[in-house]
Amino acid sequence: MKEFSLHVKVVIKTEDELTPQEMRLLDEARQATYRSYAPYSHFSVGAAVELADGTIVSGCNQENAAYPSGLCAERTAVFYANSQHPDKPIRRICIAARDTKGRFLQRPISPCGACRQVLLEAEQRAGNDIEVFLYGTEETYIIRSIKDLLPLSFDESFL
Ligand code: THU
Repeated sequence: MKEFSLHVKVVIKTEDELTPQEMRLLDEARQATYRSYAPYSHFSVGAAVELADGTIVSGCNQENAAYPSGLCAERTAVFYANSQHPDKPIRRICIAARDTKGRFLQRPISPCGACRQVLLEAEQRAGNDIEVFLYGTEETYIIRSIKDLLPLSFDESFL
């Protein structure tokens, strides 16, 4: 038998340890939660994406009465960024969420599997790592690359 282990480094920072540009990204993600359309889950998610020239684009979850037809905040933001700025690589993404009582989550929110898959391809398209900020009121997790969020992933190289 053989085996291997995969190791993921997660850096944990409080808000006073973030740079002004990182705080801007975090604020945009938090603000985006207030534009969420979530009449079914009442769970409001915001995602802010920073492009290579510093532009920040945000998105939020969009729900639908036919539940699977909705879209998560992360994919809304990434697809919007790539639609508006196809030539500007995405460098960072920050995700924030408020619970059904409207409070920001204490624990950092984690993106769903489908969003990780889309972010992985966005990273390959960008040609650089996309740094991920997962916001929680007590601490924010920072992960170096989407690859760390989706080990043993499927991508176009298998096709
Ligand atoms: N949601 C996101 O937008 N991003 C995530 O990372 C997790 C879940 C949305 C989908 C749905 O509108 C609501 O949160 C509850 O699952």
